[in-house]
Amino acid sequence: MAKLTKLEDIVSLCKRRGFIFQSSEIYGGLASCYDYGPLGVELKNNVKKAWWKNTVQMRDNVVGLDCSILMHPLVWKASGHADKFADLIAECKKCNTRTRVDHLTNHAEEHTEHIALDAAIAASHDLSNKVCPNCGSVGKFTEPMPFKLMFETQMGANVDDSMTLYLRPETAQGIFANFANVLDTTRIKIPFGIAQIGKSFRNEVTTKAFIFRTREFEQAELEFFCEPGTDEKWYEYWKELRFNWYIDLGIKKENLRLRNHEHDELAHYAKACVDVEYKFPFGSGDWQELEGIANRTDYDLRQHQRGMRTLNKWFENGRDLTKIELAQEAEDYLSGPLSYFDDEKKKRYIPFVIEPSAGIDRSTLAFLVDAYDEEEVRGEQRNLLRFRPAIAPIKAGIFPLVKKDGMPEIAENIHKDLKKYFNCSYDEKGAIGRRYRRQDEAGTPFCITVDGQTKQDNTVTVRDRDSMEQVRVSTGQLLNYLREKLEQ
Ligand code: GAP
Repeated sequence: MAKLTKLEDIVSLCKRRGFIFQSSEIYGGLASCYDYGPLGVELKNNVKKAWWKNTVQMRDNVVGLDCSILMHPLVWKASGHADKFADLIAECKKCNTRTRVDHLTNHAEEHTEHIALDAAIAASHDLSNKVCPNCGSVGKFTEPMPFKLMFETQMGANVDDSMTLYLRPETAQGIFANFANVLDTTRIKIPFGIAQIGKSFRNEVTTKAFIFRTREFEQAELEFFCEPGTDEKWYEYWKELRFNWYIDLGIKKENLRLRNHEHDELAHYAKACVDVEYKFPFGSGDWQELEGIANRTDYDLRQHQRGMRTLNKWFENGRDLTKIELAQEAEDYLSGPLSYFDDEKKKRYIPFVIEPSAGIDRSTLAFLVDAYDEEEVRGEQRNLLRFRPAIAPIKAGIFPLVKKDGMPEIAENIHKDLKKYFNCSYDEKGAIGRRYRRQDEAGTPFCITVDGQTKQDNTVTVRDRDSMEQVRVSTGQLLNYLREKLEQ
């Protein structure tokens, strides 16, 4: 069984083997931004593919979308982010470090991404016993103040039409804004989902633990639209399904749990929310959120109907969000474009939404941590990543035993054939044992070696990463053999 490893071991392996690098490292690095290297990009792409396959490809009632990161500013007024998406912070008067108020408590910080602003305000009345995490001063804080989390940018070169935009803090709103487009262009009927994977940005006050909390990250979100009254059933359905997705991809059950949000933790749009948590090895080993599954009710679609009615006011006020109030909900909201007409039941309603929202970078970190293992083999330490084949960056390493006697040519041909079907790596340098170890550390499930016997009977050895056992397989059967194993 893999040991609970230290985060530093993972960070060091990621750097050494080209999974993940600090962004802008040659300039000293940019805090909380990371780049995925050659192995990392394959791993992360495989995590995304596995999510997409499970969420979109295998279902008849979920379609995909890829929305732009920059959206109309009114989207964020309507969603509530422009006014409410903030963390409450306090500044240490001694060292000037700003810290999230909820992170000054002992427990709450490890359980929530952003607790609702109202709850944070309530929790922040007394900072007299709170410790500054930077300098250790006690009770030396300013009054708590809200800190907005959305990054701002300007669009347009002309003074007349330039406006302030925001980098999206979640991908979900692109889905809500396209609800009517999807309905109009597909034959999909409720219950149905719209899924999206993409970058999101948050100007986090505290970033931490490698790629766990960063300012630029990727989310995989599904907005599942259903009839009001059926929402609780679908909430349970997605909760179970999303939990099992991690288990099926190799996360050990004892390291995963579901945690229901307390009422005061709920985001402003949610009726209920549960987090899928992973036991990350930070500090003494803490449960941390991997994914949230929320019942968003009909909040967003209703809000966007209000947002659409606010457009004229926004123009009249010089395209300034801070100068407008969102239009009141209209009596006739059911005739708006974001309502749904159920042909069979002959009724119109605003659908409820169940939202499983996963972090791709955070899941990738969990897969790395959970797969990492160290063991002693013949007096030497072997480091390996026991990835499930579906997410392994390289599926097979192909080697000639030695660099002579025609072995490299045969191995190169095998590589040429296999790489049409999956990601493979050819390596002829160094002792065979060292080449196996390199692939173990990259998490490659199989290594194929061409040796002296290959020329006589057209067989190669296939070595299993986990058991290190080798079997002989004929070159003609190799593709089928590997495909079968990789799909297990
Ligand atoms: N649309 C709902 C939403 O965005 P969230 O709980 O704020 O909900 C969903 O985010 C997931 O996105 C989290 O569970 C986490 O995996 C990921 N996430 C959020 N903020 C992140 C950050 N700063 N860095 C890395 N991942 C983050």
